[in-house]
Amino acid sequence: MKTESIEARGVDYSRVFTQAIDRLHAEGRYRVFIDILRNKGMFPNARCFAGHNGPKPITVWCSNDYLAMGQHPKVIAAMEEALHDVGAGSGGTRNIGGNTHYHVDLEGELADLHGKQAALLFTSGYVSNEATLSTLAKVLPNCIIYSDELNHASMIAGIRNSGCEKRVFRHNDLAHLEELLAADDAAAPKLIAFESVYSMEGDIAPIAAICDLADKYNALTYLDEVHAVGMYGPRGGGISERDGVAHRLTIIEGTLGKAFGVMGGYIAADRTIVDVIRSYAPGFIFTTSLSPVLVAGVLASVRHLKQSSAERDGQQAAAATLKAMLRDAGLPVMAGETHIVPVMVGDPVKAKKISDILLAEYGVYVQPINYPTVPRGAERLRFTPGPAHSEAMMRELTDALVEIWDRLELRAAA
Ligand SMILES: Cc1ncc(COP(=O)(O)O)c(C=O)c1O
Repeated sequence: MKTESIEARGVDYSRVFTQAIDRLHAEGRYRVFIDILRNKGMFPNARCFAGHNGPKPITVWCSNDYLAMGQHPKVIAAMEEALHDVGAGSGGTRNIGGNTHYHVDLEGELADLHGKQAALLFTSGYVSNEATLSTLAKVLPNCIIYSDELNHASMIAGIRNSGCEKRVFRHNDLAHLEELLAADDAAAPKLIAFESVYSMEGDIAPIAAICDLADKYNALTYLDEVHAVGMYGPRGGGISERDGVAHRLTIIEGTLGKAFGVMGGYIAADRTIVDVIRSYAPGFIFTTSLSPVLVAGVLASVRHLKQSSAERDGQQAAAATLKAMLRDAGLPVMAGETHIVPVMVGDPVKAKKISDILLAEYGVYVQPINYPTVPRGAERLRFTPGPAHSEAMMRELTDALVEIWDRLELRAAA
């Protein structure tokens, strides 16, 4: 038996797996995770363990803890208190022992944030999108989902898993969306799924105009505000709060892991819709609920950001300053009205090379963004300056990028 050839035994599993990884290397988009520890209270300073003798100090430029709330004293104190009060985990699903008072309080806080009747927590933003979209479209027979072409992978997964008809409209293209809506049976249930801030481009959806189309064609709306909650609107309710249109959206979805600085995801909607998802979504039902320690931290974060705009203002100012510095230095910073600062490279190997040099020589940590997160040929560096990034740090970053752009002769190509 031992001498039997691989062909005779069938699939060579290990070769298939190795080839799958080799393909990523060949395309220059094999992902290397940088091993870091953030220094509490000193964000964006951190320690890096990758490829060095011992930890080396670095500045983090690509965190989605946009407002450094993950290190806010109120958040840390709330988590410590919860840990000592109730212990580490929730001990169960929401239905079986895991419905802690922290969860109930946070859902009330999030419903209020978006002016909705109810909210529902999930273990991540990814799960909230997948579970809600897949369940909604199953509960609505013959539902058609209209999805922006740049929607996040979690929305795409939810739509696919619902098994419903899907129409993809060109990014933020109202005319195309209307064309698709008008072409379908007027009586069919419809749902338009889109994001407010597109996190890789840094642009914003025309929410009010999409709601107008939804009204005209009797469609429901599903808005992913993952990159906007905590950061836009007078209380951090996102772009829908900023634009005064939250009441027009059927479902608003958000994360607790980015601007709120901890972990988890949620939807906010009217009571009946939330009850449907709570009752039918496997991704909500069959999983241990978030640790009460995490939920306590999020509660402190959401409550703080509802009444403090200092972090939001600081972030907007930092983003504007960095964009101006990069533009003035002749670097290909992408236009956009949000806090995200993407610098286009257009090649996966070069994007990785720039990121490697920044880390090794300048102590600057920014992850290259490659396919499938962005389309091929649109590889980029994505900077997320926040209130804790000083002008001196931005100047150092800009100077480093200019030096590397010259060294790699990227100017002509950019
Ligand atoms: C637009 C969008 N939606 C959803 C998610 C998932 O959120 P989470 O990180 O909480 O799973 C992300 C995460 O990166 C995202 O960018």
